[in-house]
Amino acid sequence: MTLEKSHEGLMSRTRQQFQVPVSTVIVTVSGVGHEGISMKVIAVMNYKGGVGKTTLTANLGAEIANRGHKVLLIDLDPQANLTFSFYSVAQWREELRKDTTIMRWYEGDSPGRDVGLHELIVSPPIVNEQLDGTGGKLDLISSHLKLIDMDLRLAARLGGGTTLGESKRKFLELHGCLARALRHESFQEYDLVLIDCAPNFGLITKTAIVASDHVLVPAKADYLSTLGISYLDGNCHDLVAEYNDYVTHGQRDNVNETIETRFLGVVFTMVKIYAGKPIATQQYYMEDVRVNANMDVLGGTMRDSPKYFGDAGESGVPAVLRAPVTDDVVVEFRKLATEILDGIGGKAR
Ligand SMILES: Nc1ncnc2c1ncn2[C@@H]1O[C@H](COP(=O)(O)OP(=O)(O)OP(=O)(O)O)[C@@H](O)[C@H]1O
Ligand SMILES: [Mg+2]
Repeated sequence: MTLEKSHEGLMSRTRQQFQVPVSTVIVTVSGVGHEGISMKVIAVMNYKGGVGKTTLTANLGAEIANRGHKVLLIDLDPQANLTFSFYSVAQWREELRKDTTIMRWYEGDSPGRDVGLHELIVSPPIVNEQLDGTGGKLDLISSHLKLIDMDLRLAARLGGGTTLGESKRKFLELHGCLARALRHESFQEYDLVLIDCAPNFGLITKTAIVASDHVLVPAKADYLSTLGISYLDGNCHDLVAEYNDYVTHGQRDNVNETIETRFLGVVFTMVKIYAGKPIATQQYYMEDVRVNANMDVLGGTMRDSPKYFGDAGESGVPAVLRAPVTDDVVVEFRKLATEILDGIGGKAR
């Protein structure tokens, strides 16, 4: 089962979103995925906290792996909630904390100098047992609570360039670090990489955007959650434009490639359904974003379900693999996953 490159529909509608220079080439981050198809990278992000980013990432990864795909999750949030969706805190402390978190990769003089990103991949056992027989797998690069300090230290390293060329080189080296690391051959077996971002636009989040083909934006249908969407759009656009400008002009060694990160769209989460429809206040904000945001809104949503999505992490298996397949929550989520796969050029079954 592979994620195919040919795609129209949602992709053609999202193509205009980042308005990168016409000369920009489309870059998939890795080389070739299994069966000769490029892997895709999606960053799941929103400045707003608590909008369901991690819950969406964990369930989407599990659902797509359950369809026979090889999926890698990367937890870039110091809160490490994605990590704790698959490992208990005690397991993390004993098995992962010292040697196998993304913290090890970002620390040191420059990201990846002391350890390869691929050396940090782990396979959470409980969920992978459940995937037995599907042909899919769900791997993880876990996070660390101290990643917050690293974000600040990395940002500090951006300064201090004595010439414009030196500043640009530092900018590209730091912002492009994750993109370059994901080109390693160890990642070629994956069909899809999902990156769970922290609710900020710090340097580590920026490395995720540079490394991604697509950005998916979970949002609650309320005032505060929808407020930041156009701000996010503008900031991502600026980052991509600046990065490509630096790559295109004045770089001699050419280790970085231009990028064409695109918004896949907004996914409304925690949608309260009454009489088969979102409640009126949520409908209002959903419509507002559809009309006013410079970003697509996916047709699929994630329903509010404290029963299934409210206990993120405790069982080690995301709700979409635990709940009865006939439950509305699962039926809707599977449709959303298919829409996302279609949007990135994937072939869902
Ligand atoms: N569809 C849903 N229905 C009910 N509860 C949900 C749903 N999605 C997420 N939750 C719950 O809401 C809380 C926030 O979700 P989550 O951690 O996924 O958000 P987040 O955007 O990743 O937060 P942060 O910005 O802090 O990383 C969690 O307790 C989670 O279990
Ligand atoms: Mg989160």
